[in-house]
Amino acid sequence: EKLEMERLKELIRSIPDFPEKGVMFRDITTALKDKQGLHAIIDDFTNRYTDKGIDYVLGADARGFIFGAAIAYNIGAGFVPARKIGKLPGETARVEYDLEYGTNTIEVHNDAFEKGANVLIVDDLLATGGTAAAMVKLVEMLGADVYELAFLIELEDLNGRDLLDGHSVYSILKY
Ligand code: PRP
Repeated sequence: EKLEMERLKELIRSIPDFPEKGVMFRDITTALKDKQGLHAIIDDFTNRYTDKGIDYVLGADARGFIFGAAIAYNIGAGFVPARKIGKLPGETARVEYDLEYGTNTIEVHNDAFEKGANVLIVDDLLATGGTAAAMVKLVEMLGADVYELAFLIELEDLNGRDLLDGHSVYSILKY
């Protein structure tokens, strides 16, 4: 299991100075395209979240969709996308937040969750935590509950967890 995670880490490509000087970009595309890498990631999440009473997986636009839908399918939950502003056609709840590079607004459909629904939040990366904190707010605005937040990668130096109000956070790989 530990060995498998070390191998998985080797499948993530690190690209210096992207998108700007001084930033080390953790590129997951090299892990996604690897059959065993993709399998290891989805299996890890699936094992953790099977039979936990999760009603919905909320995935962050855009890379949270990749894992979120696969996890939802495997654990028998529904999938809900948190989209960048202007993409969802129905009535929405929205939250503006600070990003590692700039600001952003994400939204979900107003009727995405029933009150008291149990929601797992999924994204590829926890950096400053701005995106994740916005997703927590969206879930709570709609009267649903956050089960946990799950990430493939956590950048520990940025202390993203501190923005998450003590919600439980799980990350497969830490940098
Ligand atoms: C990246 C990443 C997370 C977020 C993490 O997405 O996929 O969603 O930033 O950063 P934070 O913890 O500082 O909020 P981005 O907004 O670049 O969107 P993309 O997936 O569409 O590229």
